[in-house]
Amino acid sequence: MILDYVTIFPDFFAPLDLSLAGKAADKGLVEFRVHDLRTHTHDRHHRVDDTPYGGGAGMVMKPEPWGEVLDELTGPGTTIVFTTPSGEPFDQRLAEELATREHLVFACGRYEGIDQRVIDHAREHGEVREISLGDYVLNGGEVAALAITEAVVRLIPGFMGNAESLVEESHAEGGLLEYPVYTKPPEWRGHEVPAVLRSGDHAKVAAWRHDQAVRRTAARRPDLLHPSVLDDGSPIVRAVAGDAPELLVLQRACWVQEALANDSLDIPALHESYDDVVAWLRVWDTWVVRRAGRLVGAVRGRLEDDGAWDIGRIMVAPDLQGSGLGRVLLDHIQAVAPERATSYVLFTGVASERNQRMYKKAGFRLRGDLTAPPGAVVLTKRRA
Ligand code: ADE
Repeated sequence: MILDYVTIFPDFFAPLDLSLAGKAADKGLVEFRVHDLRTHTHDRHHRVDDTPYGGGAGMVMKPEPWGEVLDELTGPGTTIVFTTPSGEPFDQRLAEELATREHLVFACGRYEGIDQRVIDHAREHGEVREISLGDYVLNGGEVAALAITEAVVRLIPGFMGNAESLVEESHAEGGLLEYPVYTKPPEWRGHEVPAVLRSGDHAKVAAWRHDQAVRRTAARRPDLLHPSVLDDGSPIVRAVAGDAPELLVLQRACWVQEALANDSLDIPALHESYDDVVAWLRVWDTWVVRRAGRLVGAVRGRLEDDGAWDIGRIMVAPDLQGSGLGRVLLDHIQAVAPERATSYVLFTGVASERNQRMYKKAGFRLRGDLTAPPGAVVLTKRRA
């Protein structure tokens, strides 16, 4: 693979000679070529920028130097990557796609960006990708080009000694974040390596790692766990005191339905006041989802003395019921249960058939042998 970099700061690319990327170049797997955009200017001051048409702050990169250098570097089979905060987000899938290309040209913009005609013109001649490293603004595209390079080059066959480490890492296994890892010594500054990892039981180790990966993903990136339901990127976040008024409204809406289904008004959630909600928010680990600013879902959990993680108040806004959000919240609250939790327990109405179906599908069992409040049933599940 050939990788070209066009920049006004060629020194930025010195790290390409270091570490594994440098070794890949030594092995002939990749060739890095860095080009100074200013050598394609023809005025005394080597100007690469000018004021924007239409006014506004900042400067725009002039089209002529870019046109000249891209004409020189690109041909059939070239993919030109413009690094820009307004590009498509860079992720592992995109890294994998770029790793299949023979020739990448990184056009690193500075200032307010490159004259749009450069990008439009490049598109007429080949593949163009405008790529953003993330939702923040860097001073220029060089750091983004380096990051993309590192993610892409390590995927080139023959680059990594150990192909397994590619398969196992974050974002590769079922879209989960990576589980925590440990090495020797077994105890360090009072912190112990989890016993299961030293047990020699491979099945248990695999189950523990999977569970940790799910928990981490649920807590940090719930959008990865449930892309279909949370596909607008709305995260599940810890509730704050300011959520109390909306929680009260949502709770009333949800438990009126329960009251009708069970033909009973004798349900605590129906009778709570605003102050009651404020009070339980202080003692329950409560999570909420907002969509377009609106609170559309919530769930809470609390650890009981016997080690049971008591799950409750799973609420979904009426217009999103049946969308899978309830199941997402149920998975989430299990995933964030503290280490000490040994089982999950929840209550629902005797006649709340839809809820009971969802809980059973999620591995909960009806427990006729345990006492429940009048009109309710108990369901439990052992923690893996
Ligand atoms: N240039 C400036 N900010 C950038 C970003 N977030 N991603 C890619 N290129 C950039």
